[in-house]
Amino acid sequence: MCGIIGVAIDVNNNCSEFKAAEIITKGLKSLEYRGYDSVGIALIDKNTRKIIVKKGKGKLDDVSKEYSFLLTPGCIGIGHTRWATHGAPTNINAHPHTDCKGDIALVHNGIIKNFLSLKKMLLNSGHTFKSDTDTEVVAHLIEELASTSSNFYEGFKKSISMLEGSFALAVVTTYEPEKIFFAKKESPLIIGLSKSSNFLASDIPAMLEYTNEFVPLNDGDIGWLSPREVFIENLKAGIVEIRKRKILVDWKPEMAKKGGYPHYMIKEIYEQPLALKSTFEGLISDETIIEAADLISKKDKIFIAAAGTSYHAGLVTKYFIEKITGRAVYTFISSEYKNIEYLVDNDTAIIVISQSGETIDTIKAMRSSKNRGGVIFAITNVIGSTIGREADYVVPMRAGPEIGVAATKTFLTQVLVGSMLAVNLGKSIGKINETEYNQMINTLSYSPNIVGSSISMTEGIMKKLPERFSSKNSIYFLGRGLGVPLAYEAALKMKEITYIHAEAYPAGESKHGPIALIEKDFPVFFVVTKDTYEEIASNIAEMNARDAYTIALASEEKLENLQPRLTITVPKVDLLLEPYSLIPPIQLLSYYTAVVRGLDPDKPRNLAKTVTVE
Ligand code: F6R
Repeated sequence: MCGIIGVAIDVNNNCSEFKAAEIITKGLKSLEYRGYDSVGIALIDKNTRKIIVKKGKGKLDDVSKEYSFLLTPGCIGIGHTRWATHGAPTNINAHPHTDCKGDIALVHNGIIKNFLSLKKMLLNSGHTFKSDTDTEVVAHLIEELASTSSNFYEGFKKSISMLEGSFALAVVTTYEPEKIFFAKKESPLIIGLSKSSNFLASDIPAMLEYTNEFVPLNDGDIGWLSPREVFIENLKAGIVEIRKRKILVDWKPEMAKKGGYPHYMIKEIYEQPLALKSTFEGLISDETIIEAADLISKKDKIFIAAAGTSYHAGLVTKYFIEKITGRAVYTFISSEYKNIEYLVDNDTAIIVISQSGETIDTIKAMRSSKNRGGVIFAITNVIGSTIGREADYVVPMRAGPEIGVAATKTFLTQVLVGSMLAVNLGKSIGKINETEYNQMINTLSYSPNIVGSSISMTEGIMKKLPERFSSKNSIYFLGRGLGVPLAYEAALKMKEITYIHAEAYPAGESKHGPIALIEKDFPVFFVVTKDTYEEIASNIAEMNARDAYTIALASEEKLENLQPRLTITVPKVDLLLEPYSLIPPIQLLSYYTAVVRGLDPDKPRNLAKTVTVE
């Protein structure tokens, strides 16, 4: 994973001594969600023209303080926040990495698969290595090839063509101290354009404070940027016309800041009504979803590919498509695409769901399906992402930037796009008439209000509840029908930020094994949806009989015959709106449990927001 950033500021224009260091450090803060086990920067000192590297193990705030990142002089520089793949998180393995002489420094996101054979070759040529990383090999390879090429860029290009694997690379060098060289394959990299400075970063929010003009790089792109120029060529397609690739992003910098909340996660939970409003308004403002539904309805097979929380949104989408249209949908976990790809042909529609648009497993599932003739419909929050660019049709989520590692507002906005797609498919296929269609769309327009009411109704109890079981080792989440994917999402949220073992099952399945774990006061949550009320009442009774601590999340109309030990009442809504009433309390529960356990919900251990490795 990892986050990288680079900035080149014109020396004669607004480049105070420590300006670049400040931009890089700030940018790294917003990229920390991508990895945070070590961090580093490299700047070209404008007076000595030498490279200054500062780096260390730990989170940005601590390392930056220890090494005084903000007092590093220079107008051209790069930075990196790491999620270790090759080599433990140590001071030496932290990026940037340098060549033998310290004339080249680079940061890398991705994995160089052939680094061992390259290292062997470079060791034979006399290079000395300091770290255990795959990345350092690239610095020495460039050193080797630049020394025998007509200029640095030629050597850089030759080096890139020898790399196997995935990479977003940013390189500074004393040979051309005015430039940052870059290359991209599989890992995300975006150029930010401004008047007297140019940027590059793994993600847009890192540059939002300075520009809203971006050029997303494609695989095979390579080039350089200086304060006033950007040059990009594609190794296969030749020189890139920047004007044609440029995109304008209407996100505001404050959207990517905490705004007074203690954590991004709680801010993003509260932002859900606004995010859903923007999703809904976006969806009805143009014909994209109608056209997508028309095309999907003509295909024989409908598949959905996604990972993690997005997979759960895919299961909810499947539920509504099947319920409304009567057509079967197969939702699969992206990393399992090899077991499914042979089913894809040119009569298949594949809906790929990815908040970041950069999840490598989902990219691979998408590319494999496309190669087999499938038509790709992407639901993504980042239009300029790899998935956004490579899909045949893109439906934007419009959730705004999500910084907390745990997906919250992006889950419900994905669910809203999926539900709107289901309703439009129902109409295209002729399963619902105009009146029913209008009623359903009108129902979905209330999703922002339902989230708001659900938060207000459950926030109080969700703040207190964690005290009761924050010391438990395990929790079950059970549901039926639509409640099953919501229970899956609940268990994922719980385990990823509280580290409590949490599992979800269809409630009926609990009798076939999981119930063996139940003992006195074992917490069992029931996510009670409209369609499952009667059967779930018996599952609650079965757990009560074994002394479990049963908790039902249900609307008032459902309460009468349920006999859980605790009931959490959510707004009473139509089936289409149940995700918006049932999910917020679960998000709040995970958040407050993490806080009670003294954990940082924004940066769960071992996780990163965008998973660009297989
Ligand atoms: C969980 C979470 C992850 C992501 C998954 C897919 O809270 O955020 O499970 O949902 O890594 O990411 P995207 O949607 O970017 O493809």
